[in-house]
Amino acid sequence: MTTNHQWLLAARPSGMITGDEFKWNEAPVPEPGPGQFVVRVVYVSLDPAMRGWMTDRRSYVPPVGIGEVMRAGGVGEVVASNHPGYAAGDLVTGTPGWQEYAVTDGSGMMPMRKLAPGTDLKTSMGVLGGTGLTAYFGVLDVGQPKPGETVVVSGAAGATGSVAGQIAKIQGCRVVGLAGSDEKCAWLTGELGFDAAINYKTANIARALHEACPKGIDVYFDNVGGEILNTVLAQINLRARLVICGGISGYNAVEPMPGPSNYMQLVVMRARMEGFLVSDYASRFGEAITAMSQWIAEGKLKSAETVVQGLENAPKAFRMLFEGGNTGKLLVQVGPEPR
Ligand SMILES: NC(=O)c1ccc[n+]([C@@H]2O[C@H](COP(=O)([O-])OP(=O)(O)OC[C@H]3O[C@@H](n4cnc5c(N)ncnc54)[C@H](OP(=O)(O)O)[C@@H]3O)[C@@H](O)[C@H]2O)c1
Repeated sequence: MTTNHQWLLAARPSGMITGDEFKWNEAPVPEPGPGQFVVRVVYVSLDPAMRGWMTDRRSYVPPVGIGEVMRAGGVGEVVASNHPGYAAGDLVTGTPGWQEYAVTDGSGMMPMRKLAPGTDLKTSMGVLGGTGLTAYFGVLDVGQPKPGETVVVSGAAGATGSVAGQIAKIQGCRVVGLAGSDEKCAWLTGELGFDAAINYKTANIARALHEACPKGIDVYFDNVGGEILNTVLAQINLRARLVICGGISGYNAVEPMPGPSNYMQLVVMRARMEGFLVSDYASRFGEAITAMSQWIAEGKLKSAETVVQGLENAPKAFRMLFEGGNTGKLLVQVGPEPR
């Protein structure tokens, strides 16, 4: 009988993740029941949103229950099936969770979806996965940038931000990124074609933004919230669009974060600040994957992943998101890629 290693949620977090919130578990892989199939997990995705799924605050999905396998997106290979739609050898992506084998009927927060044979699994989790799709719809649908406008992206060297900035470049915009190290900033301007990048940990952010955005800010793609959002608000243009994708600076806060004191700039500048969820665009994922695949083929859109080896390292890897340890999409490799 094959053994399944899993990380279960053992306790709700308070403040920064310590790792003690998770419990390592060993259990036999169950036989699939009628209508079920077994997925051998190859990569699991680490997403800042998982910090929210661990708490029981009001959210867009129910919290992970104590004692349940930690919820996570992932990709893998079907190894056994009693489901008419799936056969051994199929590549699938969905929400397998932090475990080596997932027994599923295909439903879940992100229902299982088949991938074409030969798909690059890492790209399917990054640029062509949840974070790339988030960037695509956040920039194009919510931000609606026009050629020549100035777009600022926070969390710019991360999975979502790095794609958001590149898509804004493809639209003919001036793109300025904020990231947490000089190396990340050099990567944004050198490799990804950003026009300027600001190390928010060392710069005077207001002054650096003023210099990098001499014509003001038309679109702000926000991954971090907090003080950076507040500083951006003071430099927005008439009819600016602020795309609220996430607010990672507050995800480990014990007390509620204060609101941006500069929010009246939205009135002064008749600007729009709008949140969105990538899941709202599920019916249009095909359109986005086609467009982004084309940009990848043309060399206009580059992908980057940081891959941590071994499911046992998932809790430590998860912390990297909050400490800036990743460039591009953060993945944990759980098992070997299918041959
Ligand atoms: N709305 C949606 O549907 C949707 C979907 C996916 C993701 N999101 C959101 O998008 C954001 C990015 O997610 P991701 O998966 O792409 O993660 P990511 O950007 O790959 O990783 C998180 C990055 O955030 C930065 N960061 C951490 N703490 C910070 C702080 N206090 N201030 C500023 N930057 C900080 C770190 O980079 P540095 O080195 O630069 O600090 C880190 O690498 C998150 O807010 C997430 O919740 C939203």
